[in-house]
Amino acid sequence: MAPYDRLIGDVAAELTPVWVTGPPSLDIPRAFIAEGRDDDIGFNSLIEGDDDGTLAIADKYATLPRNNNVPQAAVACWGGTERIMTDTVKYTLPEDRIPKAWYNINADLPEPLAPVLHPGTGQPIGPDDLAPLFPMALIGQEVSAEREIEIPEPVREIYRQWRPSPLHRARQLERALDTPAKIYYKYEGVSPTGSHKPNTAVAQAFYNKEAGTKKITTETGAGQWGSSLAFAGNLFGLEIDVYMVKVSFEQKPYRKALMETFGARCVASPSEETQSGRAVLAEHPDSTGSLGIAISEAVEMAAQNDDTKYALGSVLNHVLLHQTVVGQEAIEQMNMAGNYPDIIVGCTGGGSNFAGLVNPFLGEQLRGGPHVRVIAVEPAACPSLTRGKFAYDFGDTGHLTPLVKMHTLGSTFVPPGFHAGGLRYHGMGPLVSHLHELGLIEARAYQQLECFEAGVQFARAEGIVPAPEATHAVKGAIDEALKCKEAGTGRTILFNLCGHGHFDMQAYTDYFAGDLTDQSYDESELAMALAGLPSVATAAE
Ligand SMILES: Cc1ncc(COP(=O)(O)O)c(C=O)c1O
Repeated sequence: MAPYDRLIGDVAAELTPVWVTGPPSLDIPRAFIAEGRDDDIGFNSLIEGDDDGTLAIADKYATLPRNNNVPQAAVACWGGTERIMTDTVKYTLPEDRIPKAWYNINADLPEPLAPVLHPGTGQPIGPDDLAPLFPMALIGQEVSAEREIEIPEPVREIYRQWRPSPLHRARQLERALDTPAKIYYKYEGVSPTGSHKPNTAVAQAFYNKEAGTKKITTETGAGQWGSSLAFAGNLFGLEIDVYMVKVSFEQKPYRKALMETFGARCVASPSEETQSGRAVLAEHPDSTGSLGIAISEAVEMAAQNDDTKYALGSVLNHVLLHQTVVGQEAIEQMNMAGNYPDIIVGCTGGGSNFAGLVNPFLGEQLRGGPHVRVIAVEPAACPSLTRGKFAYDFGDTGHLTPLVKMHTLGSTFVPPGFHAGGLRYHGMGPLVSHLHELGLIEARAYQQLECFEAGVQFARAEGIVPAPEATHAVKGAIDEALKCKEAGTGRTILFNLCGHGHFDMQAYTDYFAGDLTDQSYDESELAMALAGLPSVATAAE
């Protein structure tokens, strides 16, 4: 083992450390080693060298506050490749630390969300309007102003299969980038289906089962959501029908197999099964489909059958709410690491993984806690937050849903068939749109190729292949880390690695073969879609 380079100066007196100048060994019984780079970053952790020479975090000293004015001279530098041995990589929590309640940011926002409107009357809808589609418990959560909503014990029981998910410090990526930034990522790919989606799938299946639902219909983009609802539906004995966007259905055949493994049915959308699907096919027989179209198909089937309800994998308040287990755990894990993020990054399709990580931190900020810079990253080929209009619009292409106020590209907008299928939605969750309007978050858009480049760089450093959607967050985090390098400032960056890409390897194959291109949407199609925003929207704005 390489020796410590040097241990210099003194650390806060109450720690009374025994400073050592060699590797931990049997004849140095208790060695305290602080690691960190400079005052600006703050100390990461204190490590205790044990009698047998092993190194472990000394709990009582593990959470020195940031910028605690401990002089830089107190930093212990450990040279050589073995330095990594003292560097914690994964911050894990025991199962009893799974949050007991979801966090509802609506309780802390300075202004409430705009109401959901009935498309016919232009008036706010009531619970009964949504009852054909959702069980009452979820409708209640959709409009709740309670800060905490208790997670039912059967849901927490199932969460135990993969939660709490780990928080990783991306030490290898930091080294590859040679950045003074500290990069952390919350890894949601450890779930049974490989993404954050089961966090809400299990909850939605639970409430549906309680309400007597027999079957749930849904849409899916890349297949992460469809397979998650299939997994959850199976656990609660529910039938699941999934309308999968055709381009993804063809790109990711094993997602269908996974859904079928859990006992669900998966159909390419637009399909001949529904009026909405047939209408699209009549006009565009080669339609690649879109989330908006698949939502129409699933909603139509649910609305026609009393024992069938509909579930959405993103966008709605209750879905974003269920994802807040991610951010709550991350706060506790960042605390374990003795750090707090300066910058948080997440990719946004409808906004659920993003809000799930970000909202608990924003809640702390809104209640007087530290300020965080929050960046939402979306695809340049479907840029609802950066190019869309903040207006009332339909959630689906067939205009079967109520009107919600959100950033939208227009409900008839069909984005090009890029690989991040989960980000191909014409709108953005009303809550995330509202956070943007309030100036609490920023947004940026990236092209497909630069995201895959970042995804490959991440995979080569950290060993995890990100889902194409997640590469957008990776790219955002890498860009921020490189800015830190340029400016010579250490910042703490946290991002949501919301899923792995094991079912998306064709996309990587295409990328390596040079067959992927940056795709841009048709400007005239966007203009047309925006011009077609419902007129009730203009009246209600
Ligand atoms: C891995 C992954 N990330 C992100 C998304 C986008 O959804 P959301 O913005 O709700 O997290 C999806 C949607 O399918 C997904 O599968």
